Amino acid sequence: MSSILSNVLPAPEDPVLSVIFACRDDPCPVKLNLSVGAYQTEEGKPLVLEVVRKAEQQLANDLYCDKGYLPIDGLADFNKFSAKLILGDDSHAVKENRVVTIQCLSGTGSLRVGAEFLAKHHQQRVIFVPNPTWGNHPFIFTLAGLSVEYFRYYDPHTRGLDFEGMLEDLGAAPSGALVVLQACAHNPTGIDPTLEQWEQIRQIVRSKGLLPFFDNAYQGFASGNLDSDAQSVRMFVSDGGECLIAQSFAKNMGLYGERIGALTIVCTSEDVARKVKSQLLLVVRPMYLTPPIHGASIVTTILKNSDMYKDWTIELKGMADRIISMRQQLHEAIQARGTPGDWSHIIKQRGMFSFTGLNEKQVRMMAKEYHILHDL
Ligand SMILES: Cc1ncc(COP(=O)(O)O)c(C=O)c1O
Repeated sequence: MSSILSNVLPAPEDPVLSVIFACRDDPCPVKLNLSVGAYQTEEGKPLVLEVVRKAEQQLANDLYCDKGYLPIDGLADFNKFSAKLILGDDSHAVKENRVVTIQCLSGTGSLRVGAEFLAKHHQQRVIFVPNPTWGNHPFIFTLAGLSVEYFRYYDPHTRGLDFEGMLEDLGAAPSGALVVLQACAHNPTGIDPTLEQWEQIRQIVRSKGLLPFFDNAYQGFASGNLDSDAQSVRMFVSDGGECLIAQSFAKNMGLYGERIGALTIVCTSEDVARKVKSQLLLVVRPMYLTPPIHGASIVTTILKNSDMYKDWTIELKGMADRIISMRQQLHEAIQARGTPGDWSHIIKQRGMFSFTGLNEKQVRMMAKEYHILHDL
């Protein structure tokens, strides 16, 4: 039978998926897949937090809890508490009612809704992302109608931040350009600016009239402390200027599959915020009408209840501390074997990701000889 769809070409291979498939097809019983950006237990399983189980039990017992449609912008309390989580308890922007937060489909959905909004309502369509950055960023922004450019970020010689290069590139960006900044635990390098460097970045972003779009996918995962990991964002918000923040609860609450996150836009006045919100609703409505209820209910239950919130921070710190300790163990093991070279970047980098500095030949050898698979 002739097929209307027969001229569809196969999509190019996704590098992360090809590592997943290679690992799946590797018959060796002792193998490791290092390409997936998800926290796992010692047994290689996703971790469901105790506090999440507790919140779900509470929700299951709540006879008033229904499954009706949420409003287009999601659960009101979820939005309120999510904004507080990233902006802080005493945020002036929140008190002045110039913050808009809408529930979105995790970090990815928040980035996409933000990008669609910007493509429609911001006159400057160029968006600068770090080189390198999370592999999905260029797809999200390009498909939304923005034009992606890169600023220097990683220096392969120092295996650290190319701070001079970053400032130079941001300084040369056209006025009004959008800039994606990862709030903490940079994916894929694990390299974050220091607070002093953030301040210089802030100054250049503001003096050039650039519009920062924070990707906040790992709050709490870098240091184990939610407030410390929010400092980069809060620095920008406290100067009174505008910014966008895409927030995800995938990693820090282990709610990967619930697809729960938020887009926050900090505006310069209540009036601007009102108009921005009205346009955001127009972006969401034809895309998925309203967001899902379950993940938002879990997050809200935890953020609203001070005991549960405390339990969450303890579990979150447990995950962050384990990552830090694994970095230390890996570094010590490399040193103990007298491996040539400087491996201090393993412990200097933060969060779940590490740029190992291994070359292609070494990566292939690790996969072939030791069944340890990761991206090139
Ligand atoms: C930097 C960064 N942003 C956003 C995301 C999106 O995550 P999610 O859509 O699962 O919240 C990820 C996921 O790996 C990420 O690494």
